[in-house]
Amino acid sequence: MILHLSTWPEIEAQLTRSRTIVIPIGSTEQHGPTGLLGTDWLCSEIIAHRAHAEDSGILVGPTFNVGMAQHHLGFPGSISLRPSTMMLVLRDWVSSLSMHGFETIYFLNGHGGNIPTIEAAFSEIYAEASYAKRRAGVTLMLRNWWQFPGVDELAHRQFPTGHGSHAQPSEIAITQAAYPESIKVAPCDPPIAPSGPIREAIDFRARHPDGRMGSDPLQATPAHGEALIALAAKGLVAEIEALAAGADQA
Ligand code: NI
Repeated sequence: MILHLSTWPEIEAQLTRSRTIVIPIGSTEQHGPTGLLGTDWLCSEIIAHRAHAEDSGILVGPTFNVGMAQHHLGFPGSISLRPSTMMLVLRDWVSSLSMHGFETIYFLNGHGGNIPTIEAAFSEIYAEASYAKRRAGVTLMLRNWWQFPGVDELAHRQFPTGHGSHAQPSEIAITQAAYPESIKVAPCDPPIAPSGPIREAIDFRARHPDGRMGSDPLQATPAHGEALIALAAKGLVAEIEALAAGADQA
């Protein structure tokens, strides 16, 4: 099921079958000269919806599509939440879903820059329960789409050089597979972008003038993306099935 394409009675009925919901999460931020601003949340959403297409019992919630992207704010179109704001918003999403009986809230993430903030939000939610001497009543999970078995390995086989760490050909290929009408063509010079640390937005743009970090996104094709989507979706279906079977949660 897709939550925003369902009615409340349908969700109430779903809760009698499963208390797990998958929330795609990402970021709206620049992805170099050819990458879409929505790349990070699009990748999570595309993979979650593919998993749902393969197993309609998986409930996918609305996409959390603005994340912690302060370092990209030197590029037009990027939108960011501060870490402190994002933690509060995540807490309210979790509280809302938990109120209705969801017990496992599984965030499928597409943006590395979100990871510390999501993990800190989880700790805050658990801390509230600990100080109140009660159970949290909810299990919070974070999985990055490239963590599913074989996915990162496949991306590095597809792109042995120039995979990089931002505006990667793998993530751009996934969006190309799902949105071929939005494939962009633009020069990337040098072909493999420089790497470097991540600090504030002005520093980021000075180090990475076209937005890429260590990547050569011109290698991306829809066929690469389709293979990555298929493998990641398979991993997501398997993990949700394992959760339903009572497997210990990583
Ligand atoms: Ni990205």
